[in-house]
Parts: sequence; C-alpha cells; structure tokens
Amino acid sequence: VASDSVDIPVMRPVLPLFELVRSQLEAVHASGWFSNFGPAENGLRERFAVRFGVDPARVMTAANATLALAGCFATATRTPWTIPSFTFTATPAAALIAGVDFRFGDIGADWWLTEEDQEDAASPVRVAPFGAPPELSSGPRRHGIIFDAAASIGNPWDPGLLGEADAVVFSLHATKVLGAGEGAIIVFGSDERAQQFRIWTNFGFFGSRESQIAGINAKMSEIQAAYVHAALDGWDNERAEWLAARDVVLRVGDEVGLTTFDASRTCITPYWIAVFPDAATTDLVEATLAEHGIGTRRWWSHGCHQMPAYADVAHGPLPMTEDIAGRYLGLPVFRGLGEHEGELILAALEDARSRAAAW
Ligand SMILES: Cc1ncc(COP(=O)(O)O)c(C=O)c1O
Repeated sequence: VASDSVDIPVMRPVLPLFELVRSQLEAVHASGWFSNFGPAENGLRERFAVRFGVDPARVMTAANATLALAGCFATATRTPWTIPSFTFTATPAAALIAGVDFRFGDIGADWWLTEEDQEDAASPVRVAPFGAPPELSSGPRRHGIIFDAAASIGNPWDPGLLGEADAVVFSLHATKVLGAGEGAIIVFGSDERAQQFRIWTNFGFFGSRESQIAGINAKMSEIQAAYVHAALDGWDNERAEWLAARDVVLRVGDEVGLTTFDASRTCITPYWIAVFPDAATTDLVEATLAEHGIGTRRWWSHGCHQMPAYADVAHGPLPMTEDIAGRYLGLPVFRGLGEHEGELILAALEDARSRAAAW
C-alpha cells in the first residue's frame, strides 16, 4: 500500500522522565544559579568522572558537541588536521568555525579514518562511526587526536589510553544515547588541555573579565545540566530500552539476511545502519521503505567532500568513502520500538528484497 506519510520514523527522541527532570530542575531553581559552571554543571562533571574513571578536572561540558569540537580545534596547539569525509557535517563545520587548516581523508573497511599517526602528518580527527566506542591505541602518541565520539556515550571505553593532548567529544543531543535536548561531555588527556577548553567556552575569561584568548560562549547552562542529571538518573531503564529495541531490529535484519554495520549489532547506539551490495539496491530499499511508510536516513549524506560548504577543502582520492556512502542506509531504531514496528519493518524489507537484483 503506497503511503506518503511516515508511520515509523527513523528516530524518535525520548527525553528523561519528567518526574526525574522536575526534581533536578527544582534543585537548580533552589540554588538560584542558572549558568556559568554552577552546582548542576559541576555535579555532572563529577558524575561522568566516576562513570568513566577519570579525574573530574579532565571532564568538561559544553552547549553541544559541535561547539565542543570547535573548542577542541581552537585550543589545540598543533595544526593541520585530517578529518574523515565520512562524518556528520558538524565535524568539518567545527574546524571551519575554529579557523584551523584541515583536509579530508578516506576511511578504511572498518569506517574509521585510515590516517596513520606519523611524524610529519596532519593530526587525525577520529570519528567513531555510528555509536562505536572511541578506539584509543596504546602506542606512543605523536600528536593530539580529537575523537568525535558524538553518539558513543552508551558504551565502555578506556580513558586510561588517552594521550596528553587528546580529547574525546560526546553529544547529548535529543537523538543520542543519554539524550538531554542539547549538550556535550568532553574528556581530555590532561588538566591543562581541559582548562584551556573551559576558558574558551567562557569568552576566554580566566580569573578576570579580560579575555585571555579568543573565546566564545559555549557553556552548558544549569537547566541543560539538570536534564543530563535526569538522563543519568534514568540510565538503567534507558539502557534496557535500547537493548530491547536493538533485539527487535537485529532479529528483523537477520530474518531478511541484512548486512548490519558492526556497531549497530554490538553497541548501545541510536543508529541501525544497513549496508547493501550496491548503490542501486540502496536507492531501491530507500524508496520501497518510503512506500511502506517506514523512515530511513542517510545520516552522513554522501560524504562531506560532496557538500557545497566544503568545496574548497583539499582531499586526495576517497574511494572507500564514495563506495560506502552509496551503500549505507539508516533504518529505524529508537527506545520503545517493539514487535509491532518490527513486523512492519520486516514486511517492507521483504518487499524490497523481492524487488532487488542483489541483496
Ligand atoms: C559524528 C557527529 N559529530 C558531531 C555531531 C554534533 O553533535 P551536536 O548535535 O551535539 O552538536 C553529531 C551529531 O549529530 C555527530 O553525529
């Protein structure tokens, strides 16, 4: 049955239970402190420090992950950078806004930037694909690395492997795991790097009202922090809901013989990413699911190097990016997705498979 409306969206944001938000907001109102690193923001840094097993001095907050990335670029001591073209537009947008030099690099078969950490090379921005945890290597670090792990906060990782100049950025956007509307948590490899970042997020102020560096306002407000506290309060339930939704979609995928990107199988991630044998099949699946009222999305479009905003950004050949960008498709997964949705998605995928030349 053809349908113009989407019956099952690709994503449905769920914020923390309002009861949990209410008690956190009451604490904010009682404190009379509404932004500028108040008790809620400080408490949040402490809670994430315990969660990750790091010193709270190395955990910072920001209004969103895009500004957090911009701050990591702006306060780094070394340029240029290599950014994978296969990422969300926020990564290169942040580099442009921060005014740093960068070029686009290709990804490997695992969808991570292939750039090696070599003496003369540009510093890599490693984008954790679709919720995969940041992969920190234990070898010696030549350059500080920025890990864009926007969607990865639901998964274990090892901050003990951070190099001194490294930074890991997580997003708390409504569509992410631990979604709180907007927000970001950043973990740094040294107190100094963390402190510089904090100064950048607060107009470059450090101890006086004279800006010490060119900064901006990228602070997380106390209201935002209250929502993040509420999300943490509800984490056990949220985690169970992500796992339940993942169970449903993986069973559907297995039933139709779908190839699913690894992180969607093994991680707590807000993405169900399917990979098809060729671009024509991907287009056909997208169109067939739309006919069934099932939402899909090419989350990172066709690679940032194809976007008008980055027409001037240098890059070499990007064969893997161009290949993968034509063959991946985000399918629906969200908290609360159950058997009923699973049945509808299964029927649509079976229909697509029956029409496809390759699968
Ligand atoms: C890879 C990546 N980087 C950065 C961002 C930006 O995060 P935010 O929405 O918190 O600015 C996103 C979010 O969608 C993302 O997927």
